[in-house]
Amino acid sequence: MGYRELAFWDFSVYWFKVMKTKPYKQDTSPLGYAVGVTLDRFIKSNQADFPYATGELSQLLRDIALATKIVSREISRAGLGQITGAFGQTNVQGEEQQKLDVMANIRFTRALTKGGEVCAVVSEEDDEVIDLQNKTGKYVVAIDPLDGSSNIDVNVSIGTIFSIYRRVTPVGSPIQPEDVLQKGSEQVAAGYVLYGSSTMLVFTTGKGVNGFTHEQSLGEFFLSHKDIMAPATGQIYSINDGITPSVDKGILDYLTDCKQKGRTARYIGSLVADFHRNLLKGGIYMYPATVANPRGKIRLLYEANALAFIVEQAGGQATDGRNRILDIEPLSLHQRTPFFIGSSELVAELSSYSGL
Ligand code: AHG
Ligand code: MN
Ligand code: MN
Repeated sequence: MGYRELAFWDFSVYWFKVMKTKPYKQDTSPLGYAVGVTLDRFIKSNQADFPYATGELSQLLRDIALATKIVSREISRAGLGQITGAFGQTNVQGEEQQKLDVMANIRFTRALTKGGEVCAVVSEEDDEVIDLQNKTGKYVVAIDPLDGSSNIDVNVSIGTIFSIYRRVTPVGSPIQPEDVLQKGSEQVAAGYVLYGSSTMLVFTTGKGVNGFTHEQSLGEFFLSHKDIMAPATGQIYSINDGITPSVDKGILDYLTDCKQKGRTARYIGSLVADFHRNLLKGGIYMYPATVANPRGKIRLLYEANALAFIVEQAGGQATDGRNRILDIEPLSLHQRTPFFIGSSELVAELSSYSGL
């Protein structure tokens, strides 16, 4: 039907179909309070900042976040179920595995397998590298699925620590030692989860550090700690006092000086929890070499490197007493290192003591 053939009433139909619009204005009344930025939205809107920005790393972080929610749920009901206590086996380091160590390892490894972005996993709970058989996987993950195992059965904060690397050999070829034994400075992302009074996921992709708190009723992580910066100095020093009879004199002198300066000792025994507190409040965490652990206790690949990357991104420092942690060339999967991490001035101050 042509324009000329339209009767008057036909025009009126067209007229009433014209819509009016108005620009959206966010409601600022108490009813319209802001719920915040979800992890998903944060990842999406910061996609361009991610190394390689192909979307795979974003998906990998989402996979980890999902496993985190499952593990968090299991942990929060640990005392009610059949999931506390020893599993009945020891890991490669001769440590007794707890059931939650094993459960967390299963959950994270499964999430990393299903996602398809990861080709290999190094875990505290597995002697060898796990080849996930993902032909297209470009990433390698090193993980401490459950950190602070000695605190599981007593309702004290525990955590998860992870490092993400790009594989260096061609995608689809067999995994090689150089894919998994990379220096910490090669990490493309790293993070930790703290299962504390709330569950928090803190991570970096090399553009600062951001923290997300899990909102249980919505089942979502929300940005709660934007652009975390470690205070340059602080009052807290964290060390297991029980090991001090067998540490180097430099450490003992440093501890004496901390006490004389009226500083405060805080030590939980879960690295993630001790690190997180000091990151926010200002402080130093120390696990030096001892007679029992002459190369230190903290594992380079899946404990020290991730936290070192995060602390540097937040303006702090991490060393083994002499070298920057991120510059250490790893030689084996479960390698240990003396570990000093936290506020930049405190770590620099410690490094000036002789005998480390
Ligand atoms: P994990 O539970 O993963 O084996 O790690 C335990 C680590 C770390 O979380 C903590 O800082 C340290 O061991 C505690 O060691 P001590 O009990 O010797 O203080
Ligand atoms: Mn640990
Ligand atoms: Mn562990």
